Amino acid sequence: MERERVLVPEAELERQREFEERIRAMFAARQAHPLACVDTFGCQQNVADGQKLMGMLESCGFTLTADPKEADVVILNTCAVREHAEDRVFGNLGALTHTKKENPEQIIALCGCMAQEQRVSERIKKSYPHVNLVFGPHALWKFPELLWQVYESRRRVFSVQDEHGTIAEGLPVVREKGVKAWVSIMYGCNNFCSYCIVPYVRGRERSRDPQAVLSEVRELVEAGYRDITLLGQNVNSYGNDLGSGYDFADLLSEIDRIPGDYWIRFMSSHPKDATRKLFDTMARCSHVAKQLHLPFQSGSDRVLREMNRRYTREQYLELIAYARSLMPELVVTSDVIIGFPGETEAEAMETVSLVEEVGFDALFTFLYSPRPGTKAAELPDPFPRAEKQKWFDKLLEVQNAKSAALHAAYVGKTVQVLVDGESGDGEFPLSSRTEGNRLVRLKGGKELIGKFIHVRITGSNTWALYGEAVQR
Ligand code: SAM
Ligand code: SF4
Ligand code: F3S
Repeated sequence: MERERVLVPEAELERQREFEERIRAMFAARQAHPLACVDTFGCQQNVADGQKLMGMLESCGFTLTADPKEADVVILNTCAVREHAEDRVFGNLGALTHTKKENPEQIIALCGCMAQEQRVSERIKKSYPHVNLVFGPHALWKFPELLWQVYESRRRVFSVQDEHGTIAEGLPVVREKGVKAWVSIMYGCNNFCSYCIVPYVRGRERSRDPQAVLSEVRELVEAGYRDITLLGQNVNSYGNDLGSGYDFADLLSEIDRIPGDYWIRFMSSHPKDATRKLFDTMARCSHVAKQLHLPFQSGSDRVLREMNRRYTREQYLELIAYARSLMPELVVTSDVIIGFPGETEAEAMETVSLVEEVGFDALFTFLYSPRPGTKAAELPDPFPRAEKQKWFDKLLEVQNAKSAALHAAYVGKTVQVLVDGESGDGEFPLSSRTEGNRLVRLKGGKELIGKFIHVRITGSNTWALYGEAVQR
């Protein structure tokens, strides 16, 4: 697709700023101090989108609140990746009927991945009359205009057309305070893994211009952010649509030249596009954290084919072996699905054996959830949930033992961490992360927050390490 069609023109963004101004003026005329609440579900990309929504709300004159009861505008920024995620949103929407009863002027909006599903927007139209505004990820940048339409027309507004995906640069962002920041480097997905809804709701892959990413990372480092994660559904295909031959490894190399004290991470990586060049670059670049999230999904070649993943178990193992040969200290994590339609117990155990073979530091484990509209949802799914749950429990047992053993091996060692906040634990009141993103709860005072320090690890369990600061 031509670049002009992908980038939202500056004139359009200027128009949106005019709508922000109109909304601000409307509240000023009423001498009102409006509040807004954004509740985000789902992955980090959605969190990053939520931060842009908050930025636009602030530009419209809203003050942010975490309490939907007191908010004039409530936005549910939703996820569609599993049925459970959708159920939670419908539950929350139900609860909002009460807040709306108390405050009939309240505007309720639903956005994010679920909103882009026709099935969902129709259900909202029919059965959730208290929802005023529904818009999908494609329309995120038009939020000021959509909100204005709701205020002006007093009608329900739906903006869920299946448009070609765009990139809007320069939207305002409200970031989490602290040391961590997220930077989307690309949007959408072209992979159509057969179980996954994301390509249907987020559109085709489009990469931001390298210069836009570089200046955002530079600004974040200058503003004191120390742990920056580059986001994309498959960052390894970054640049494919730019047509210049510039790839993700090139982007990492350029970011690495930005001076300062910080770590760069990235997620997710698709094994089919993970190259030796990427691992060579990671090993060479001092700011790039030695941590890799490389989802494998299944240890069975037949299931991988059915999932349309386009790599084999052996190719996956080769990638990990190559990466570890360059970076022996590499922390490796992954995503895995148990119970894909037709997966047998023997195939699920191939997944368990791959987990044993690789020895992941941590794993995000999911029971397959059929997503209407995807290919896998049409496949026969003969095994009952209770049976799949047993395989799942076996996987967890193996992984938990491994995580605990890998964590135990840290005890007595001194490692560098970035202190990122308070832990809420009285004895170990600080929370910090190693370069490999392992959680370390620490003894120490708040003055350490935001600093890279060395700590001696004194204890561990499956989920966390415990330690105390040492002088170097
Ligand atoms: N693009 C990333 C990738 O490929 O790794 C992340 C995709 S998704 C947001 C995160 C994880 O959810 C996937 O890696 C997969 O393990 C899981 N997932 C996606 N669709 C699923 C489904 N229908 N049922 C269960 N888990 C699913
Ligand atoms: Fe979904 Fe596959 Fe795309 Fe990840 S790469 S978002 S799992 S389709
Ligand atoms: Fe969910 Fe959409 Fe992310 S479906 S996992 S919020 S891309």
